[in-house]
Amino acid sequence: MCSKISEHSQQITYEGLLKGNKEWVAATLAEDPTFFDRLSAGQKPPVLWIGCSDSRVPANQITNTTPGDIFVHRNIANVVVHTDMNMLSVLDYAVNVLEVEHVIVCGHYGCGGVEAAIGNKQFGIIDNWLRNIKDIYRLHYHELDLISDHKQRCARLVELNVIEGVFNLTKTSIVQNRWANGKKLGVHGWAYSLETGLITDLKVTTESNDHISSVFKMDNLKPL
Ligand code: CO
Repeated sequence: MCSKISEHSQQITYEGLLKGNKEWVAATLAEDPTFFDRLSAGQKPPVLWIGCSDSRVPANQITNTTPGDIFVHRNIANVVVHTDMNMLSVLDYAVNVLEVEHVIVCGHYGCGGVEAAIGNKQFGIIDNWLRNIKDIYRLHYHELDLISDHKQRCARLVELNVIEGVFNLTKTSIVQNRWANGKKLGVHGWAYSLETGLITDLKVTTESNDHISSVFKMDNLKPL
């Protein structure tokens, strides 16, 4: 299976991408002649996806959805931190303009970013990004240090990174204002398996600030 994937990757060329685009347009129009007319009119995706940049975890394919269905933000190891203006801008636009009803943080087992964060090797500028995941390790070291199997420990940190991402989203004024204004918004955490293709719901769905630590609750909420 691995050799098949690498053979396939070797066939990907710059020209091949443009050729592939033409083939995709032709196939799409053959199946649905109004596809581009419809999509070019606007977007109203019900879901914001915050996932890893990993080439093997594309939001649409793994959820059997199509262009127009999911608004997507991806970064290395699907990190959600308070000061990321890129993520906050995407979140604000998705929640307040597109009015998505679901925000999904989707990590994946075997995440290279999480594996790098659990180790001690220097990689360069990315170390600063991955340090956010080391902070999560520090929060949960009592649990993680007890897992002797390296793969299992990485897998659990993948899950904890997603869960912390969900919590961090719920702490934002963007999400809390939405809830305070009576709008439906669920924040969810998922983990995808590269080995099976299946998604695990980590069951941390949050739909109100009822269970958020009091220090993070905001009470001077802004009307929409
Ligand atoms: Co990853």
